[in-house]
Amino acid sequence: MAEKSKILFIGGTGYIGKHIVEASAKAGHPTFALVREATLSDTAKAPVLDNFKSLGVTLVAGDLYDHDSLMKVIKQVDVVISTVGALQLADQVKIIAAIKEAGNIKRFLPSEFGNDVDRTHAVEPAKSAFAAKAHIRRTIEAEGIPYTYVSSNYFAGYFLPTLAQPGAFAPPPPKDKLFIYGDGNQKAVFNKEDDIGTFTIRAAEDPRTLNKIVYIKPSKNIYSFNELVALWEKKIGKTVEKVHIPEEKLLKDIQEAPIPINIILSINHAVFVKGDHDNFVIEPSFGVEASALYPDVEYTTVDEYLTQFA
Ligand SMILES: NC(=O)c1ccc[n+]([C@@H]2O[C@H](COP(=O)([O-])OP(=O)(O)OC[C@H]3O[C@@H](n4cnc5c(N)ncnc54)[C@H](OP(=O)(O)O)[C@@H]3O)[C@@H](O)[C@H]2O)c1
Repeated sequence: MAEKSKILFIGGTGYIGKHIVEASAKAGHPTFALVREATLSDTAKAPVLDNFKSLGVTLVAGDLYDHDSLMKVIKQVDVVISTVGALQLADQVKIIAAIKEAGNIKRFLPSEFGNDVDRTHAVEPAKSAFAAKAHIRRTIEAEGIPYTYVSSNYFAGYFLPTLAQPGAFAPPPPKDKLFIYGDGNQKAVFNKEDDIGTFTIRAAEDPRTLNKIVYIKPSKNIYSFNELVALWEKKIGKTVEKVHIPEEKLLKDIQEAPIPINIILSINHAVFVKGDHDNFVIEPSFGVEASALYPDVEYTTVDEYLTQFA
């Protein structure tokens, strides 16, 4: 059997990164995580780092802004996965420069893990964040670096515990009254974070995903808001009051809300009102769908996920 690719993570200690690091190590890839010095001794990050160590992940001290540390570790691996957060998206040009200089990387997965940024209808402030990701795509392509862009759609943990209710930050979703963005008919996709990890690692060295966008869009996780509310009503055994938020009202709320609420609302607008997750066909020329490529992956469905809150 072919040897498993060595995978380096930059941003592996982050919200989504830790799930993908875990999936990598569990799949038997020699797994490396570039971690900042300060983070290595941060007690808040200790549980994540201890888990990495127990999984056999090699922790490498370094920083996105320290070219030498990047070069040294990139030269030891085959695949680089970036899961850096919003503030570092544009600075991924530094990773691209190091990959180009090192010359040994077979695949780069930049920090994406959301809407397809080339097919979005987002308004500000999400628009600029998505534009930063699109700029990174264009830089990777211009440099001729082999890539895979993972469009994972919504992280389940961000949206399902509250059913994306404005101002709600903790589960369970309301059982009396629910706000629905727009008419509630556009389809959205919700994936559990560890499944995003599993699909991403499968895709990372698959020849079928080379220079493609991988959409994580399993059929049982595609719901319109109206369908989601109907599922919730079935689970709690009662009908809830439904209040639609018209697009004009949502656009006004986005303009008036502080950071990061305005970012979340503008992403919800792009998905639930404009249909970013489902309003285009995945053409073989640019994309592939993950659950079709890996039908053996037993992912958690939205139905199963919501049961814990009912
Ligand atoms: N689809 C969705 O629902 C959804 C939701 C949220 C985010 N996302 C996307 O997911 C991606 C990752 O976001 P996230 O929220 O998981 O990120 P995050 O939790 O903010 O994590 C950022 C990571 O970057 C690391 N980092 C920061 N500065 C660094 C530096 N100078 N050098 C090296 N590493 C550095 C952090 O390390 P430390 O541990 O040292 O701080 C951390 O590991 C983004 O592209 C974001 O847009 C998607």
